[in-house]
Amino acid sequence: MNRSALSKQINREQIDSLKNDTKALLSFLQDQNDGTIVYVLEKLGRLENGYSKQPLLNLLNNNNETIRSLAIKNLAKIGDVSLLDTFVNFAKQDESTEVRRESVSAIGRLRNEKTIPTLIKLLADRDPKVVMQAIRGLLVFSNNNQIKKELAKLLDHPNELIKEVISKEINGVSYGSKDSGKHDEFPAFLKNTIVQGDVVETLKHVPDESIHLTFTSPPYYNARDYSIYQSYDEYLKFLEEVFKEVHRITKEGRFFVLNTSPIIIPRISRAHSSKRYPIPYDIHPLLVKMGWEFIDDIVWVKPEASVKNRNAGFLQHRKPLGYKPNAISEMLMVYRKKTDKLIDWNIQQYEWDKVKKSKVLDKYETTNVWRIDPTFDRIHSAVFPIELCNRVIKYYSFVDDLIFDPFAGSGTLGRAAANLDRHFFLTEKEPKYVSRMKEDLIKKDNLFNVKNSQPNFVDIKNFITLIKGTI
Ligand SMILES: C[S@@+](CC[C@H](N)C(=O)[O-])C[C@H]1O[C@@H](n2cnc3c(N)ncnc32)[C@H](O)[C@@H]1O
Repeated sequence: MNRSALSKQINREQIDSLKNDTKALLSFLQDQNDGTIVYVLEKLGRLENGYSKQPLLNLLNNNNETIRSLAIKNLAKIGDVSLLDTFVNFAKQDESTEVRRESVSAIGRLRNEKTIPTLIKLLADRDPKVVMQAIRGLLVFSNNNQIKKELAKLLDHPNELIKEVISKEINGVSYGSKDSGKHDEFPAFLKNTIVQGDVVETLKHVPDESIHLTFTSPPYYNARDYSIYQSYDEYLKFLEEVFKEVHRITKEGRFFVLNTSPIIIPRISRAHSSKRYPIPYDIHPLLVKMGWEFIDDIVWVKPEASVKNRNAGFLQHRKPLGYKPNAISEMLMVYRKKTDKLIDWNIQQYEWDKVKKSKVLDKYETTNVWRIDPTFDRIHSAVFPIELCNRVIKYYSFVDDLIFDPFAGSGTLGRAAANLDRHFFLTEKEPKYVSRMKEDLIKKDNLFNVKNSQPNFVDIKNFITLIKGTI
């Protein structure tokens, strides 16, 4: 029986009367199938009075691990220290990981000093989730020096999540802002500024923690004429250098969205093979190492008719191994600058009025598959569709924030930012693309719909002068 049928068969009042009547619950559980028992156990709610203790203890002999685990979970709600030995037995001996984890959690929920020796022993368990539950239980007594010492031993634990929790508990904040400025503000000289020049050179002059969001599509490795690197290794090192700088200038806990996709270098003749470079997968470990926390992967899907057809051969020969799918997707990898603070902290840095203005109230994309048509441009061969920029900006920034694109190209991100009441900071190496942005500006239907300040086009020399003038 599915859950909606079960909910019709057993309603809230029935469950409430069962949990307040030991005999009724005992006889009810005897006659039911596993699905119904699981359903009732999940719905029991608060259980302080202990009427259900015996029926739940009986269920600990059940063969179904989900039932045993839910029985332990419910027994923990009773808060009865005499259950400690039962929980310890199941934590040590049950064959199911699920039941063991629930038992350790139940020991912790007793919040009783008697549990300390057991919880300390469980810190040596091989299952990181058991260790995590034991840590949780022990943190209730965080002023106890023996517990502090035992927890400190886990600073070298092999599991990264345990190490992180312990480091935060023992050392306080492990990642954090050095910036004393206000989170929602940024240096005035970056506001709607477009620097024509090399991004690495330019960023040397940008202070730490200046920007709120970066969205960019880097030059592809040898895929277009503007991106010539001697080797793939050199290309990755260049991106690593840029994204380290992006990390430095990003405010605490803010986002970086990177658009890339694997690229193919065609074969030089029929005697050779083409080579495919998995750019997103190769950049990812570099980003994590430099302090970006992976948050999400979004797939940008284009119509098949808009991409290069690689299917012609297979369509004819139909031989395995020669299959070549048309690549209609690109990745949007979403990262957050690693911090101990929760996203709520970031939101709380803004006045309520600004949060309200920034709310995404219209229709929004609920999945990580974004179907958006590509945009073709007469000057630039790889521009963002404005809809892609709109979504990233709306979902990952607040009104008045500073949005950055280190590889601005035709400046699509800047236009989207201005249209959405944000500010932009762009860098672009090629004078022809910067001219293109300027051209847009003098047009009547100004693409940069900047309300209160005109965009500021500078080269690196003028950028430095601009900075000096404002400090
Ligand atoms: C994929 S395109 C970005 C297109 C852009 N998203 C748009 O909507 O027009 C990458 C851009 O990075 C620029 N670029 C490459 N190397 C650069 C560097 N060292 N510094 C600044 N820009 C660079 C290229 O000239 C190119 O315009």
